[in-house]
Amino acid sequence: MMNIPIPTGTFDILPEDPKELWRSSYLWEYLEKEIRAFVQCYGFEEIRTPIFERTELFARGVGDTTDIVSKEMYTFEDRGGRSLSLRPEGTASVIRAFVEKRLDLVQSLHRLFYIGPMFRYERPQAGRFRQHHQLGIEVIGIARPELDAELIEMNYALYERLGIENLTVYVNSLGDGESRVRFREALKDYLRGHFEALSEDSKLRFEKNPLRIFDSKDERDKEVLRGAPTILQYLSADCEAHFLAVRRMLDHLKVPYAVNACLVRGLDYYTKTVFEITSGELGAQNTVGGGGRYDGLIKELGGPDLPAIGFATGLERIIQTMLKQKEIVPERRRPHVYVIALGDSASLMASSLVKELRMQGVIALQDMNGKKVKQAMQLASTSRAQYAIVIGENELQKGMCEIKELDSGTVIEKALSEVVSFFMGGKKCI
Ligand code: HAM
Repeated sequence: MMNIPIPTGTFDILPEDPKELWRSSYLWEYLEKEIRAFVQCYGFEEIRTPIFERTELFARGVGDTTDIVSKEMYTFEDRGGRSLSLRPEGTASVIRAFVEKRLDLVQSLHRLFYIGPMFRYERPQAGRFRQHHQLGIEVIGIARPELDAELIEMNYALYERLGIENLTVYVNSLGDGESRVRFREALKDYLRGHFEALSEDSKLRFEKNPLRIFDSKDERDKEVLRGAPTILQYLSADCEAHFLAVRRMLDHLKVPYAVNACLVRGLDYYTKTVFEITSGELGAQNTVGGGGRYDGLIKELGGPDLPAIGFATGLERIIQTMLKQKEIVPERRRPHVYVIALGDSASLMASSLVKELRMQGVIALQDMNGKKVKQAMQLASTSRAQYAIVIGENELQKGMCEIKELDSGTVIEKALSEVVSFFMGGKKCI
């Protein structure tokens, strides 16, 4: 029979994948635990939304002329004839939930986070997948620039906490509606003179959404853009003051950053501050995280006129960066004990012992192979347990057992009644 392969651009996360260590679940568990503890310190609470939504949410929220929506969505019709899409990102869903559940009536300020898979039909390459995973952060209800700086600091601090170095923070301002209308015109005036030199994609973008030309990876477009005006020259006074305040706060918080006037990000909802953090450890796909303010999105999706800002970071890219900086990688967890019983009554005793050990938080396995002690010991080693406990019929009669530290081979005898307290609290040394 033919094997059925995994879909292109996706991957399995195994307990341990020695060839591709980043696909080992113990690393993912570690990262998710660290993230949860970290975001709690910043006062964030979790929100979980469906992994699919009505297609129009992303068309309207993210923008139907963005690559993400026009080229990369997994869109399908359900049996009721509705057009649905796997979420390509999390912000639109969070805002949909916020508007639908009238969370504005519950309280005026919201700090929400989510962790989960996102889906984009992209050309797979190192660091770019069709199913990737994000931590996303969204704050609703505050327009002040201090918050923009707080979130940029937070994203940077998350990487620092995970031991990641060699990062660059890029910031830019995309202004408000008024700034962008003026910039759009200036940009189009400039591009008109270079129209023929643009890529085919960008010729299309020219009318529909000329700012998106800044997203282009095409060398022809990059060359044309070198002489283009930048949004920073067209900021309204209010947006300029906002951007200055963000940068001052970043200086105060000692976040190293560079202004990149060409940074537009691939989603249409942004206003004012946008940012990205790149890692020198990754290849072409070197953006670990990014985000920005999106003050108009809630209203656009039918809610009240409230400001909001957020960012997201790819978990694959975090783990891959961590692995490039080896000393910070956690170790895979090992079972504490592997209990081997010889004979029926010893087996019964072992079952109760394993149950009791687990109740006390000890990771305990019971040998179920009914083989000779030598083979059982080999299985104990393969299980990577730290200790084997052997209960034979004779020992059982005396109420004793043998505990063997598998790494060193040291063996001691212990009363069965003392085993649980011996292992409580995890690691022990004989
Ligand atoms: P984004 O920049 O499109 O932003 O994605 C955030 C992060 O997800 C990227 O920096 C990258 O680490 C990771 N990522 C994106 N696409 C892929 C992929 N195909 N393979 C692997 N990793 C990927 C957003 O999605 C916005 N919703 C962020 C945001 C939240 N803005 C405001 N609030």
